[in-house]
Amino acid sequence: MSAACAGRFVVALDGPAAAGKGTIARALAARFGFAHLDTGLLYRAVGRKALAAGGGAIRPEDAIRAARALRAEDLQAPGLRDPQVGQAASQAAALPEVRAALLDFQRAFAARPGGAVLDGRDIGTVICPDADVKLFVTASDEVRARRRCAELRAGGAEATFEQVLEDLRRRDARDAAREAAPMKPAPDAVLLDTTKLSIDAAVAQAAALIERKCAGRAGGG
Ligand code: CDP
Repeated sequence: MSAACAGRFVVALDGPAAAGKGTIARALAARFGFAHLDTGLLYRAVGRKALAAGGGAIRPEDAIRAARALRAEDLQAPGLRDPQVGQAASQAAALPEVRAALLDFQRAFAARPGGAVLDGRDIGTVICPDADVKLFVTASDEVRARRRCAELRAGGAEATFEQVLEDLRRRDARDAAREAAPMKPAPDAVLLDTTKLSIDAAVAQAAALIERKCAGRAGGG
């Protein structure tokens, strides 16, 4: 890693469901020695708790209470990757009170010395508008559904392509249309379309951006 990247350095990775953000974020964190926060897990943990409290329905008061009381161990709970928890997360994530309750934790994580990669929907727009590198990762709906299907099946779940595709589209539509921190690229984000890109190639492009930014810092730019 370049010495110029050794201080505070924030990489913001946003984009729709199953676009490859998590995989790219983990690879960048390993390569540059940055800490990684999958912010979707926070919303999934809130959604899971609210689902349980509401007997299968998401009630705003349950989601807000869950977000305010969220603890580190909630991020290790079983079933966080289940599609119904993803939908619950997306419903909870539309509530401004839920987002507000999770803000400080995310900002504190981003500010840690040694650098951090955060992936989510609003990292470059709301959580870290001053991030050093911002990427908006996309892929076609079909490619994303195929990838998510493979992930779910690898985890032992039953998943049909049509179901997964519909699930992603429903969640993306809600995430993009909500008033509170909608999913959208920051004006200064670099778009990374992974439809035809292997994960290695996507990571290489993202890493090159980080290297350039670090070199610019070293040169005082
Ligand atoms: O893994 P996947 O891309 O399918 O979703 P995720 O990143 O785990 O996020 C689950 C849900 O949490 C999303 O559909 C969003 O509604 C919400 N989310 C958000 O609103 N803001 C974030 N920074 C991260 C996730």
